[in-house]
Parts: sequence; structure tokens; C-alpha cells
Amino acid sequence: MSTSYSIVLLLCLLMAPLATAQAEDINVGKELHQENCLECHKFELYERTDRTVKTLKHLRSQVLFCAVNNDVGWFDEEIDDVTAYLNTFYYLFDMK
Ligand code: HEC
Repeated sequence: MSTSYSIVLLLCLLMAPLATAQAEDINVGKELHQENCLECHKFELYERTDRTVKTLKHLRSQVLFCAVNNDVGWFDEEIDDVTAYLNTFYYLFDMK
């Protein structure tokens, strides 16, 4: 496990109680995604018929995976915002 991954994980754990207290912000998620997530794949990836993500939980872990791998340094809350954004426009899983 790399140091940066551990730090991100630790921060996520520390931020978790804060993050759950607030609703996801789709607009923040959109901006974060725009700035950090379009280098490797475009929106088509989320719309293809054979996409790998099948549940909301899986979507969140995929967002987290890509975010950690790209060292964007997001907090738990920002992972939630981007997950909510992608879900609202592309994946359409039940958010409850
Ligand atoms: C360094 C390159 C890279 C960057 C930058 C990147 N990703 Fe990814 N992402 C990948 C690869 C590789 C896959 C797997 C593609 C495949 O399955 O064909 C993937 C897959 C995904 C999927 C799953 C798509 C599906 O099949 O349903 C999601 C969601 C995703 N990325 C979100 C993000 C988000 C959010 C960001 C911004 C933090 C991001 N990615 C930035 C490389 C990247």
C-alpha cells in the first residue's frame, strides 16, 4: 500500500462523520469531474452498454479507485459529490 493511498484512506475515515451529515452536491461533483477525470476516459465510458459498474456502491468504489490512482486528494465528501453527479446523469441507480 503506498503512502499516499494510506493518507487518503485515513482522511476518508476521519471525514466520514462530517460527510454523512451533508447532502451530496452535484454541481461540485460536476466541476471536480470536469477538472480531474477526463484525461483517460470520456463520458462514453459511462454510457456504454457493457460498462462494468452495476450498483451505486460499485460506482462509488470505482470513483474512489480512479481518484486515489490519480492522486486528486479528494475527501470522502468529494467522492460522494462526484458519485452523485455521475449517477444523476449517467448511471441512474436508486440513491436511497
Ligand atoms: C489515469 C487514467 C484515469 C483517470 C484520470 C480516471 N480514470 Fe476512471 N477509469 C480508468 C480506467 C482504465 C477504467 C476502466 C475502463 C474499462 O473498464 O474499460 C476506468 C473506469 C472508470 C469507471 C467505470 C466505468 C464503467 O465501466 O461503468 C468510472 C465510474 C470511472 N472510471 C470514474 C472516474 C473518475 C470519477 C475519475 C476522476 C477522479 C476518473 N475515472 C479518472 C482510468 C482513469
